[in-house]
Amino acid sequence: MLNTQTNTARRPRTARVDRVARTLAYYEAHAREYADGTMGLDTGAHMSRFAALLRPGARVLDAGCGGGRDLLAFAEMGYDAHGLDLSPALVEIARSVSHCPVSVGDLRSPPFQSASFDGVWAMASLLHLPIPDLKAALSELTRLLVPGGILFTSVKRGQGDVEDAAGRWFALHDEADWPAYLREAGLTVIEVVGEPAADLVPDGTVAPGWISALARKQ
Ligand SMILES: C[S@@+](CC[C@H](N)C(=O)[O-])C[C@H]1O[C@@H](n2cnc3c(N)ncnc32)[C@H](O)[C@@H]1O
Repeated sequence: MLNTQTNTARRPRTARVDRVARTLAYYEAHAREYADGTMGLDTGAHMSRFAALLRPGARVLDAGCGGGRDLLAFAEMGYDAHGLDLSPALVEIARSVSHCPVSVGDLRSPPFQSASFDGVWAMASLLHLPIPDLKAALSELTRLLVPGGILFTSVKRGQGDVEDAAGRWFALHDEADWPAYLREAGLTVIEVVGEPAADLVPDGTVAPGWISALARKQ
């Protein structure tokens, strides 16, 4: 009886952990392909709104920096830019692309002292975390900010979760839950921008849109 209950309780958790682990393994196995495929993406509009809230030369962490596209842009804008990613292969690429310091590490336990950064940029990186891990990561990213520091986040918009054709798992969020998570982490929400679904994927279905937010540490 006891054994059966234990096994039943464990099954969904194991499945979720497997999906997340598989997703993170994807980036390591496809690092070059992923970096090349996303190097040309234009994140300039979001970056301008983030930069408008930072002082010149501010210390910026690109949290989940992927192939280093945005890290390079921050360095070129004159910021003291650092990168962080869990995939060692992507970290290598981000270092060579941006010439910035880039650490291998986890958003849920980032290897930096408290109040190390004026701004944290989390573009499309928190979206692979289940809720308990997301809350831990948001609390940690807030810890890294100086008082008054700025957090940018962008995640896929919707409800529930989806898996893409490559097998990557995404948690979806909306205008109701996302600001609530930011507030719970001790942030004041400055703006939340919902972008409608735009991408048609090969099977004819529409991929989720995006929800982006700027928030300030109190
Ligand atoms: C969709 S990609 C976005 C990469 C980059 N920010 C961009 O916009 O191109 C997600 C990135 O987050 C990283 N990532 C996901 N979960 C992470 C975690 N728990 N800790 C650190 N990095 C993580 C992945 O390795 C990957 O580089």
